[in-house]
Amino acid sequence: MQAINRELRRSGKRIGFVPTMGALHDGHLSLVRSARTHNDVVVVSIFVNPLQFGPTEDFSKYPRTLESDTRKLESEKVDLLFAPSTDEMYPKGARTSVYVEGLSEKLDGLSRPGHFKGVTTVVAKLFEIVRPDRAYFGQKDAAQVAILRKMVQDLNMDVEMMVCPIVREPDGLALSSRNVYLSAEQRKQALVLHRALMRVQFMVDRGDRSAASLREHGIQVIAEEPGAKLDYFEIVDPDTLEPVGDVSRGALVAVAAWVGTTRLIDNLVLPSRH
Ligand code: PAJ
Repeated sequence: MQAINRELRRSGKRIGFVPTMGALHDGHLSLVRSARTHNDVVVVSIFVNPLQFGPTEDFSKYPRTLESDTRKLESEKVDLLFAPSTDEMYPKGARTSVYVEGLSEKLDGLSRPGHFKGVTTVVAKLFEIVRPDRAYFGQKDAAQVAILRKMVQDLNMDVEMMVCPIVREPDGLALSSRNVYLSAEQRKQALVLHRALMRVQFMVDRGDRSAASLREHGIQVIAEEPGAKLDYFEIVDPDTLEPVGDVSRGALVAVAAWVGTTRLIDNLVLPSRH
């Protein structure tokens, strides 16, 4: 991969890179399509990164569908698929990690200790291997975006971060590789995340600007669905992930909830209203 990319850069090709853990759906493919439109060469990685899963999390049962993923990437005219083994990515004796202090413990980092350290370490490694001009991420994982942006800034990484909107099912459920874990009933219960965000949007449209009040409305919607258990519902600055008091200058409304044993996340970006 490094040899090929060195050659590509030498011939002046612009490289667009989409890191994934596979089990590809239309959310992933929207990133691929954006990369395809704006670059000469598109590289996609598929690597289920053990470092970002906690000891009791779903690493071993995470869906692995390399064959059908490969077909999807072929039909999107992806140039290169990088699917390394765990031993290749983490040979015995590796000791270096990348950690964005202060941001990595917030939102998902609070209930998933070590998760974001795993994400920043693997993405830093993937950036070194692929050396992309642009890298594509989904707004679906809003905290991940904030943390990776900070990593790129703090370590002077020469890569342009491109963030693509959340792709949803027609009924509002955000696409996720983890949706395959849901039963038909849980699939309906899972809609509560989007419903809570829509309630917040509705209150904002009616003039409510208080984060505390908006948060209460969101939490209330989640509480009305007995099939869902709230992990967090926070209204924060999209860059620092610190709670805001008032949403007038823009805010990220982020929610995580358990539906059965499946943890789902979703979010809404409120633009600045000046
Ligand atoms: P994964 O969950 O496979 O997601 C890969 C990329 O697809 C991420 O940037 C994610 O935000 C984006 N994505 C997922 N669902 C989406 C949706 N419904 N709409 C838009 N984009 C969506 O995120 C990871 O993998 C890993 O943490 C990774 C960055 C690859 C590091 O291991």
